[in-house]
Amino acid sequence: MNWIENFSKRATRYMSQLEHGRVYPSQSDVDKLKSLRAPLQDEPLNVEEVLEELDVTGSPATVRTTGGRYFGFVIGGSLPAAMSAKLMSAIWDQNAGLSVMSPIASTLEEISSEWLLDLFGLPSNCATGFVTGDTMANFSGLAAARHHLLKLNNWNAEEDGLFGAPEITVITSEEVHVSVLKALNMLGMGRSRIVKVPVDSQGRMIASRVPKIDGPAIICVQAGNVNSGSFDPIGEICERNKSDQTWVHVDGAFGMWAAVSNEKKYLAKGIELADSWATDAHKWLNVPYDCGLVFVKRKESLFNAMSASASYLQEISIREPYQFTPEMSREARGIPVWAALRSLGKKGLNDLIERNCNQAKKIASALEKAGFQILNDVVLNQVMVSFGSPEETNQIMKNIQEEGTCWCGGTVWQGKTAMRISVSSWATTDKDVEKSIAAILKVAKKYQVLST
Ligand SMILES: Cc1ncc(COP(=O)(O)O)c(C=O)c1O
Repeated sequence: MNWIENFSKRATRYMSQLEHGRVYPSQSDVDKLKSLRAPLQDEPLNVEEVLEELDVTGSPATVRTTGGRYFGFVIGGSLPAAMSAKLMSAIWDQNAGLSVMSPIASTLEEISSEWLLDLFGLPSNCATGFVTGDTMANFSGLAAARHHLLKLNNWNAEEDGLFGAPEITVITSEEVHVSVLKALNMLGMGRSRIVKVPVDSQGRMIASRVPKIDGPAIICVQAGNVNSGSFDPIGEICERNKSDQTWVHVDGAFGMWAAVSNEKKYLAKGIELADSWATDAHKWLNVPYDCGLVFVKRKESLFNAMSASASYLQEISIREPYQFTPEMSREARGIPVWAALRSLGKKGLNDLIERNCNQAKKIASALEKAGFQILNDVVLNQVMVSFGSPEETNQIMKNIQEEGTCWCGGTVWQGKTAMRISVSSWATTDKDVEKSIAAILKVAKKYQVLST
C-alpha cells in the first residue's frame, strides 16, 4: 500500500503550493509535456514510477483552479469534503448505474436529490439525474421535453424516431448558451430552426417578445448569463406562455445556485414554474469535475426518455439511477455532491454564494475606481471590464495572464471586447481578491505608461 502514502505526499505537496505559485503554468512547464509523447513501452512500470512521472511532469502543467485566484470561464473550485469524497469513491470504484451495483451510490444520490430540490425550491417529486455537466443536463431535460410534447401529440419519439414526427417549435434568447444549442442539435431538433428572442442590455430575454405558438413548443430560458450573470425573467416568461403544449427548460449552469441565497434568490424568481432545470455541481457547488444535475418535474418524461431494459436488468419499483441519465455505467457523482452539501450545510452554501458575489462587486468597483469601464451590472459573480480599445483590452489581459497572480479570460459583450472575471470558488479569500486587484491594476497601469 506504499503507493497510497506516496500519492498522499504528492497530493499534500501540490495543495500546499497552491497559495503561492502561479495560477497558470509557465510556457516552459507546458513545453515539458512533450516528454510524455513517447511510444508505449513493452514492459510494465510500477505504480510509483507512473505517479512520479505524472507528478513531476504533470503537476507543474496544471491550471490551479483549486486555488483562490482562478477567475477564468466559470469553473468553481473543489471543496475539501467533496474532493476527499471523490477520492473515496474512486477507492471504492463504485458503478452508480444500478442500485444493486452500489447501494451507497444510489442512496447518496437519493438523499442529495431531496436536499437539492428543497434548496432550489423545486417540487419534491421531480426526477433528478446526475450527469457529466450542464451540457448533458440540458440534453437530458430537453430529451424529457421532446418525449412529453411528442407523446401529447400521439407520437412516441423513443420507439418511432423523429422522421415524420409533429414539429416542436424551439424558442431561446439571442444570448442562449452554446451548450443548449449543442443539446438541441444532438436531439435532432436542429440549430437553424430555433426562434431567437431579443435581449436587453444585460442579455436578458425580453418576455414580451416571446412569440405565441399554437402547437408544441419548448422555451429555453437562462438563469445566469455566462458573461453578465444576468437572469431571464423566468417567472414572467412561464406565466405568459404556459400551456399544455409548452415546456419551459431552465439552463442554470451556475446561476441556479443564486436560488439558495437569501440575497440573490430574487434573480431566480419563478424558477419553480418551469418544467425542467439544468445546473452544474462542478461549478458553484465546488464539487470536483465532473458533475451536472438535471431536474424534471414530470418524472415519467425523463424516465421514458432515458430508460432502457434488458432481461438481466431487474425491473423493480425503486429509483434506478441509470433510468434518469444518458449513461448506464458511470461514476458515483452523488457521493461528492452529498459531501459538499453535508460539509456546507444550508448556511455555508448561502454564505459561499453571497461571499463570491460580494467579491465580484469588490473587484468591479476597484477597477471602475481606477478608471476602467465595467460593462455589466454586477448582479451575481460575473464581471466584464474593458481597458479601452479591443487591442488594449486584449493586450492587458494577456499581460495579466502572463504575470501569473490570477487568471481571467476574454469575451466580446454586445460588440465590446472585454476581460471576464468569474468568482466562483470556495477557496477565494478576500486576500486573494486584494492581491488579484493589485496585480490587475499594476499590469494595466504599466501598459498605459509604456504605451503613452
Ligand atoms: C449558462 C451556461 N450553460 C451551459 C454551460 C455549459 O456547462 P458545462 O461545460 O458544464 O457542460 C455553461 C458553462 O459555463 C454556462 O455558463
